[in-house]
Amino acid sequence: MSIFRFTPSAAVNACKIALLVLLEVKRRFYSNTIYYILRRNLSVRVQVPLPRISLSLRELRADDIPALINIHERILTIPELWERVRILNMINSGIQTPYVAVTVKDEPCHLAWLIDSRSNEKIQSFFKGAVKPLSTHELLFEFVFTLEKYRGLGIQVWRSLKFAEKGAAMGAKWALGYIKKTNETSLKNAQKNEFKPYMIRFDRWRLFCRKTEYRLLEQDQTDPCVKVRVAKKVASAFN
Ligand SMILES: CC(C)(COP(=O)(O)OP(=O)(O)OC[C@H]1O[C@@H](n2cnc3c(N)ncnc32)[C@H](O)[C@@H]1OP(=O)(O)O)[C@@H](O)C(=O)NCCC(=O)NCCS
Repeated sequence: MSIFRFTPSAAVNACKIALLVLLEVKRRFYSNTIYYILRRNLSVRVQVPLPRISLSLRELRADDIPALINIHERILTIPELWERVRILNMINSGIQTPYVAVTVKDEPCHLAWLIDSRSNEKIQSFFKGAVKPLSTHELLFEFVFTLEKYRGLGIQVWRSLKFAEKGAAMGAKWALGYIKKTNETSLKNAQKNEFKPYMIRFDRWRLFCRKTEYRLLEQDQTDPCVKVRVAKKVASAFN
């Protein structure tokens, strides 16, 4: 099945991708971005509400990709297009392992990568230093995406719990996630799954060169609220 099907919406979306390129040039010319790196102890048990639809989790198959990219059905916003471009790049990177949450009809509605240290070389070449290499007891939950029509049904929270269970069964101790400071939904969802702020990543793009700095949050380990406040204070000092 082809990813691209010609429809009026697909044509408009293709034109908008040109705008996306310009925005990306602007971002790389001058921008400051902050990511929180959150960490979850995989031995901690968490209870999260069941998603509001029946789901199962399986590895991504090639025939899932058109349903997830889906640029022919309707005109997409710039952020929606950007997410699809990033997903295609990530799939092409060969980083393992992409999973999909699927409905009872086996339709994919959510995508995320569960990554271990065996992908370190690919992580380095794909993220170019923006994601730290993983140790053998760490996993990375990356590139999380819920198709727009399935959002708000509790899918991300449920899938994150499933990854945590898989991770623990694989013998890993920690799960890591990089979340943009402005992504309130993901930050909130991560906290529902016992992720705690661990580090902050500062990206500075100047004239197409990126400088990345990390800061470890060393405050009181027992109080996540204190850590979130400290993370926000450190982050606001950056802007
Ligand atoms: C962030 C994202 C993965 C969340 O996926 P999701 O499966 O909708 O998440 P959940 O349903 O588990 O989360 C519930 C939260 O979504 C938000 N939400 C509720 N309805 C929503 C809707 N119709 N549309 C979008 N978000 C909604 C609410 O904040 C809700 O939290 P609450 O129930 O405590 O109020 C999804 O919005 C997405 O793919 N965004 C674009 C890519 C992205 O930001 N990825 C994350 C990178 S770290």
